[in-house]
Amino acid sequence: MVAENIGGGSEQRLRSDEWYGYGDGDGRDGYIHRAWMQRGYPADAFDGKRPQIAIANTASDLTPCNMHLDEIMQSVKLGVAEAGGIGLDLPVVSLGETLVKPTAMLWRNMAAMAMEEMFRANPIDGLVLLGGCDKTIPALLMAAASVGIPAVVVPGGPMMNGMFRGQRMGCGTGTWQLSEEVRAGTLSKEAFLASDRSMIRSKGHCNTMGTASTMAVMAEALGMTIPGLAGTPAPDARLLEGSQATGRLIVDMVHQGRTIGDVITRGSLLNAITAIAACGGSTNAVIHLMAIAGRLGIELTLDDFDSVGARVPLLVNLQPSGAFLMEDLYNAGGLLAVLAEVKDLLDPAPITVTGRPLVDYLDDRAIWNTEVIAPRDAPLIPAASEETSGAGIAVLRGNLAPNGAIIKPSAASAHLLQHRGKAIVFDSIEDFHARVDDPDLDVTPDSVLILRGCGPMGYPGMPEVANLPLPQKILKQGIRDMVRISDGRMSGTAYGTVVLHVAPEAAAGGTLALVQDGDEIVLDVANRSIVLDVPEEELARRTPSPALVAGLASAKRGWERLYIEHVQGADTGADLDFLVGASGSEVTRESH
Ligand code: FES
Ligand code: MG
Repeated sequence: MVAENIGGGSEQRLRSDEWYGYGDGDGRDGYIHRAWMQRGYPADAFDGKRPQIAIANTASDLTPCNMHLDEIMQSVKLGVAEAGGIGLDLPVVSLGETLVKPTAMLWRNMAAMAMEEMFRANPIDGLVLLGGCDKTIPALLMAAASVGIPAVVVPGGPMMNGMFRGQRMGCGTGTWQLSEEVRAGTLSKEAFLASDRSMIRSKGHCNTMGTASTMAVMAEALGMTIPGLAGTPAPDARLLEGSQATGRLIVDMVHQGRTIGDVITRGSLLNAITAIAACGGSTNAVIHLMAIAGRLGIELTLDDFDSVGARVPLLVNLQPSGAFLMEDLYNAGGLLAVLAEVKDLLDPAPITVTGRPLVDYLDDRAIWNTEVIAPRDAPLIPAASEETSGAGIAVLRGNLAPNGAIIKPSAASAHLLQHRGKAIVFDSIEDFHARVDDPDLDVTPDSVLILRGCGPMGYPGMPEVANLPLPQKILKQGIRDMVRISDGRMSGTAYGTVVLHVAPEAAAGGTLALVQDGDEIVLDVANRSIVLDVPEEELARRTPSPALVAGLASAKRGWERLYIEHVQGADTGADLDFLVGASGSEVTRESH
């Protein structure tokens, strides 16, 4: 599992030697690059033989899920040094899901762009990517992919299990559930507010199979972590052990010339889809995986998620789809035990960062708790068939979403997966909040709640607002789920019969902009369709509502303006058009 050739020298000239080497001429440039770096390092640290490893560090006190990454960085540094490299802390843009407004997703691409440029601009030969909270791992991978040097991920790990009143309380999921109980009048506000310390108990990212856990699963299934490391709880000593081993490994990868492009291939991307489906992972993975693939020039479409995911049974019983939390998954055998159950569905060819294929790590992986990881022959949800929609992400199409929309059947209510109902339209999340609890709102349990103007362009960043709380009127009838449709996203910790990522979004002229109250909508997940049952001629006569148009973003300056002008649809990964692809690692001009 660790690098073998400790202290081994490189055959080829290291990239960093372009900076530190003695070169031609009067040697002034190399002098400048070395002289300022030599403080605290021996003279041979920059002799052109020691791989320079940047530890891209998203630690930040304002990204509470990543607060502890400085500690991990130190363990990585130790491993790099043991293997004869130089480990260098490189703080990069960090995004915390819970604090930044209006949504961390607005800056995933900005973070990825800034990281990419710093990876390229600096004298580094390899990268260790430290992430945790939702957007950090995808941004790091997008950036590293566009530079194309050796890279390996250390996922920061989930926090310990939350427990509230004797029950597991998962991050996010518990918040959605308990706040709904407050709205329904079955839990006091005081009891709800007192639950926060029971939910968040330690360092680490959200402990549900939310987006952060899904990104860790994704990174490992892509081959980008030391196999077995993803999901190691943040406070667990084994995470530091794995971090140190990762430090040794990256030095070896530099010597071997094994780059991120050797590890992430179409085969490993499909393996990641399989892993995420078996785990009941977050819908956000769809956007992030497509964006990563786009950086590498690998074709990956929405339909790949459906066709690959449909073959996969749901095996992992974690919130929000199930009952347990990440610490339980780790103790039950972890991701490798899950992957061992679906080994036949994995592409055996893709290698991991170690140089060996992922499937090599799946022999003799036992499941220690079958309540947490269901065996293949007794899955929580079987693979798709005539009777079921399967465990993965279902991609819906129809006149309401010609470019596609997604739903996570495992987080939805079975009885709503085939549904016809009348639309109630909200032109913004503010419009929704103003009217949802109006006693005069004409809503029944069969209504279909529509929230629009929340796509990447309309509400820049595409916020996680699609899992609309139900109207109080409906909650009081004991109902806990309704069909909801939006061009926005939902938190990976959320659940419900929610159709997400409708494309094209309303702001880009999608049909969603034309829906009116009372229109009939037909959802048919088995047949993968989402239809607005209004005649074409009638739709041709309609124009978007003035309230929707007024609410759409029109930024005058800064990142938001750049974002609105260049962001692509959710159906292709919501990257900026000019960031798709790669620029490589070469920098030809000097700084002085
Ligand atoms: Fe950071 Fe959930 S808020 S992972
Ligand atoms: Mg720091």
